[in-house]
Amino acid sequence: MSNEQLRNDMLQSMRRLASSVSVVTAIDDGEKYAMAATSVTSLSMNPPSLLVCVNKTTGMHQALDNGGDFAINVLSNDQQEVSAACGGKLTGEERFTVGNWTETSAGLPYLKDAQSVVVLEQDGRYEYGSHTIFIGKVKEIKNSEKVNPLLYVDGRYTTAAEAAEA
Ligand SMILES: Cc1cc2nc3c(=O)[nH]c(=O)nc-3n(C[C@H](O)[C@H](O)[C@H](O)COP(=O)(O)O)c2cc1C
Repeated sequence: MSNEQLRNDMLQSMRRLASSVSVVTAIDDGEKYAMAATSVTSLSMNPPSLLVCVNKTTGMHQALDNGGDFAINVLSNDQQEVSAACGGKLTGEERFTVGNWTETSAGLPYLKDAQSVVVLEQDGRYEYGSHTIFIGKVKEIKNSEKVNPLLYVDGRYTTAAEAAEA
């Protein structure tokens, strides 16, 4: 199989992998960063930890590479516009003009109305190809009452209710 064919098949395969959408946030040198990510995965309960895969070309990568804490904002199904803003529609700190943002006592930005906000201490990383996997050890969690994830599948946003009907 040619590399081109393999790449196309991989893209088509990943369109079938439904994922929850999160926004990763970080601060570095007084600058705030936010990036939409579907690659957030629960890593372990012992210790409670998560991972996220971040493209080396992104602003977020530069921020995390310096070793700081980060937060995972697990988006609600009404936060599509926040995802779009943090997924490339807006740049830099402009991203914080969309959504209901506040910050921790340490200045780490988070979304007040995300489904869940997980504050993490960076605790490891693994470089692979175009990306780095950043591991975070959980420091603090703020959960909302509802479970209503924003999902991304087949190149578009959907909700759990819509996906169940399809
Ligand atoms: C729904 C969605 C999911 C994304 N998931 C990831 C991801 O897991 N990892 C990643 O590096 N980029 C991901 N991206 C792309 C980044 O959000 C985008 O490249 C980044 O915000 C660009 O930021 P920059 O202009 O600061 O470099 C995703 C984008 C969208 C819209």
